[in-house]
Amino acid sequence: MTRFLLVTDLDDTLVGDADALRQLDRFLAASKARHGSRVVYSTGRSLTLYHELAAERGLPPPDALVTAVGTEIYFEIDAAVADPAWSGQLADGWDRQQVAAAAGGFGDLQAQPASEQRPYKISYFVAAQAAAEILPGLHTALAARGQRTQLVYSGERHLDILPAGAGKGLAMQYLRRLWGFAAAQTVACGDSGNDIALFGVGQERGIIVGNARPELLRWVRCNAAGRLYLARAHHAKGIIEGLRHFGFLGGDEGA
Ligand code: GLC
Ligand code: MG
Repeated sequence: MTRFLLVTDLDDTLVGDADALRQLDRFLAASKARHGSRVVYSTGRSLTLYHELAAERGLPPPDALVTAVGTEIYFEIDAAVADPAWSGQLADGWDRQQVAAAAGGFGDLQAQPASEQRPYKISYFVAAQAAAEILPGLHTALAARGQRTQLVYSGERHLDILPAGAGKGLAMQYLRRLWGFAAAQTVACGDSGNDIALFGVGQERGIIVGNARPELLRWVRCNAAGRLYLARAHHAKGIIEGLRHFGFLGGDEGA
């Protein structure tokens, strides 16, 4: 078995099956010790909500934590400040007030709690049908204000507006280059819309867990590729299945 970089979403991907999560944790600890593998958690949550989940589920600390849909990176989980080298490059073409003003013109958008509004992420709740109707107009309104943004819709209720250079995929590539992992040694795991960036950014391997949401499955149908694996099993069990498929986990390891 070889060294690899695992980049995994948390809600409904790594987290959701406590027994399988413990099994995967054992395998990852062994691969880190033997081969120098590394683990990154990449979540839509803010650092505040990450801490809640980590305490609730007893998550072991990762080697790096990407929060707020790829807009913040933490190397020390207790650090109060996100990696300035990453955040600094997101400022170009992003004016938070202008973004909020453009979104303010769309009545169906309901602001998410204050903890989830971040320097480079503005988030709303919006139902699927309203989102389909609003998104093209919102994109135009943002561009008219000179904002280079991306709109990320997940779980049929969450809309995130991010700078064009942010997202889970680009944050993954930033870390794998920093640590010297090739794309073929990097495997991303996810279940929903904000994970599409992990699977579509480059040539990294991908595991889509068996409980993936319709918006991700629709994307996979149109972008099928040998480097992407659609697991049958759900949550961490699906990650284990995918790691075996890619040869990062032997037949008896993690059993
Ligand atoms: C998490 C975040 C939320 C975001 C969603 C989808 O639930 O807390 O702000 O909209 O992920 O990315
Ligand atoms: Mg998820």
